[in-house]
Amino acid sequence: MRKAIVTGAYGAIGKAIARGVARQGYHVTLVGRDKSALSACRDDLASETGNDHITFKALDLSQKQEIKAFAEEWSGPLHLLINNAATTPGRRTETPQGIEMQFATNVLGYFWMMKYFSEHMKGQDDARIVNVASYWAGDLDLDDLEFTRRPYDNDTVYRQSKQADRMLTVAFAERLRQDGISVLAAHSGDVSSKLSSSLGHGGWESPEDGAETPLYCALEPELKGVTGKYFAHRQKEACRFSQDEDAVERLYALCEAY
Ligand SMILES: NC(=O)c1ccc[n+]([C@@H]2O[C@H](COP(=O)([O-])OP(=O)(O)OC[C@H]3O[C@@H](n4cnc5c(N)ncnc54)[C@H](OP(=O)(O)O)[C@@H]3O)[C@@H](O)[C@H]2O)c1
Repeated sequence: MRKAIVTGAYGAIGKAIARGVARQGYHVTLVGRDKSALSACRDDLASETGNDHITFKALDLSQKQEIKAFAEEWSGPLHLLINNAATTPGRRTETPQGIEMQFATNVLGYFWMMKYFSEHMKGQDDARIVNVASYWAGDLDLDDLEFTRRPYDNDTVYRQSKQADRMLTVAFAERLRQDGISVLAAHSGDVSSKLSSSLGHGGWESPEDGAETPLYCALEPELKGVTGKYFAHRQKEACRFSQDEDAVERLYALCEAY
């Protein structure tokens, strides 16, 4: 049985993504930080899909040690990792380690999940990592990743984090190519959620619409072997952020140093 992890799994888009993966018969592990929300999500998805192989893991994705420990306790292979969790607090907050929260969760969380879980994906047939990103991206400053110099505005901080997710997609794609692991970035859609309301945005698409392109990147047989690309509306799109190879490598090195 193929195994998948979906992060942010009880969120608006995450739940629709997890449902789509469960419908394909994967053993799905739902990841989030609220155990009771995870348990309720698991029960919903099990009854909706008839898939009895849905489990969950409660952890905080802004915490490197929790991700590392989860990867160490993981048994067997992993075929699909979908990094979807994200946060955008209205005020600047920091993790107990003193890392700005959006950078820790939306960027380093993706980085650490890829770094530690790719070990379980090496050599698996059609292993894929999908990073849920956004067209709403930009203003990355490699000299101020944690907004200590610039004023904190959650929308700008969020846009930076989503640019970084697209750049890290390319950085990991190059590193994991030889291990047969594809890494893709997917814009989801404009969906009403806790995240979008923190940004002051509405959302005119359903969670299922938002899940469509991440699921396409995760499951479409024709994309087997395609790596390092950005997709929106089920189409490959040029990504201006990933063309600057020096910046991509610098971001990777800065993340690695945390
Ligand atoms: N909504 C949109 O219009 C839109 C557009 C483009 C891209 N996206 C992308 O789609 C993805 C999903 O967003 P969404 O709109 O579905 O938001 P959402 O409903 O707020 O879901 C985000 C999920 O991430 C979880 N999360 C946040 N911080 C976490 C942490 N430290 N550890 C573990 N879990 C954590 C949240 O859990 P808690 O509830 O416990 O915080 C929640 O389950 C994000 O990557 C976002 O950037 C969304």
